[in-house]
Amino acid sequence: MKVLILFSTRDGQTREIAAAMATELKEQGLDADAVNLHRAEEIRWQNYSAVVIGASIRYGHFHPALERFIKKHLQALKQLPGAFYSVNLVARKPEKRTPQTNNYTRKFLLNSPWQPELSAVFAGALRYPRYRWYDRMMIRLIMKMTGGETDVSKEVVYTDWQQVANYAHEIAQLVRKKRSKQA
Ligand SMILES: Cc1cc2nc3c(=O)[nH]c(=O)nc-3n(C[C@H](O)[C@H](O)[C@H](O)COP(=O)(O)O)c2cc1C
Repeated sequence: MKVLILFSTRDGQTREIAAAMATELKEQGLDADAVNLHRAEEIRWQNYSAVVIGASIRYGHFHPALERFIKKHLQALKQLPGAFYSVNLVARKPEKRTPQTNNYTRKFLLNSPWQPELSAVFAGALRYPRYRWYDRMMIRLIMKMTGGETDVSKEVVYTDWQQVANYAHEIAQLVRKKRSKQA
């Protein structure tokens, strides 16, 4: 049995986190598939013993496909131990990096019909040179207002990879706990 990691990404950071998590889970003896939520069609739910969903924030919102996906697959999601993670730049500040202190994550968990057993918030990446002009200017403005990096030649990855590895350990523990209950 495997762990299914579904990710919703715009610029790739949430996918990189999913891949790092899959590697970590494999080291824990658990196989994992990282799948793009936007392209997931026929999911063989019966092959999985847990599900992880990760999604990034853009202009204050998760991609609308996240909500649609959860609604569509709610019954299947409810059958499996679940974990959620969100990725955003507000979380570059450690005090905004918990599900309770990160507004996007708190609101998601309050409103979601899917209630995962675990949730986490990871800081994302700031990649000015890769953004379109408008986005670059908007992000720079937000960074200026919140005391962040404003040099548009820079790419900064704020993700704490140790935090990602620790979360994968928590997920592995959750899977083992459920398995031993079933045995
Ligand atoms: C156009 C744009 C808008 C963004 N809006 C927000 C935002 O409102 N709040 C926030 O915390 N981070 C925001 N971010 C930062 C992203 O969440 C961060 O770059 C993250 O790593 C993106 O993950 P992804 O590459 O998986 O999409 C924004 C980034 C971009 C490019």
